[in-house]
Amino acid sequence: MRFARLKQEHKDLIGEFSSGNKDLDDFIRNDALKQQELHISTTFLLFEEPDVLVGYLTLLSDSIRIKENPTLSELFNTKGIQYHTLPALRIGRLASRKDFQKKGYGRAMIKFALSRLFEISENAGCRFLTADSKLEAVEFYRKVGFETVATKEGETVKVYLDAYLGKN
Ligand SMILES: CC(C)(COP(=O)(O)OP(=O)(O)OC[C@H]1O[C@@H](n2cnc3c(N)ncnc32)[C@H](O)[C@@H]1OP(=O)(O)O)[C@@H](O)C(=O)NCCC(=O)NCCS
Repeated sequence: MRFARLKQEHKDLIGEFSSGNKDLDDFIRNDALKQQELHISTTFLLFEEPDVLVGYLTLLSDSIRIKENPTLSELFNTKGIQYHTLPALRIGRLASRKDFQKKGYGRAMIKFALSRLFEISENAGCRFLTADSKLEAVEFYRKVGFETVATKEGETVKVYLDAYLGKN
């Protein structure tokens, strides 16, 4: 498998992408390139050999509120950090092609997002991966290592992963 940063030349390919979720399919087909040109988000495509588009993820910068999260507040208090928010990389969109789901591509895309985070944090502080998970995807995020933030009932659940947990 290989990742490629979304480019104009992918236009035909993304026009046919289908994850089974209308919002996510509309985004990659109609909005992802425009948002990337505006430097609002960056999208990466995941290809399986030879050139089959099996998934995509969209990343943008974010921050995580730790003041309302007792676990994180305590952890960072012990490290002498008392900020209200800490820097994060947000998974704005994530989707595997419908007929390629539950084959490990989602996990591979999270691993890729983590590799981007480590690269970013060499130049600008960045510690957490964040996402607003649809209810039906929460179990996926848990399986790949994310924690959930207790929130009021809604259509999404805030999830996060501490990329440096146990390291420093
Ligand atoms: C959610 C999604 C991105 C997961 O991608 P995927 O390629 O199916 O994920 P993986 O195959 O890497 O799954 C990793 C693990 O999570 C499990 N998993 C995947 N989707 C799951 C789901 N919806 N519910 C429960 N478990 C799920 C897999 O079975 C696998 O478990 P295992 O390690 O025990 O075998 C994909 O199902 C998808 O695109 N869904 C539609 C769009 C969507 O909901 N996107 C999320 C936006 S918030």
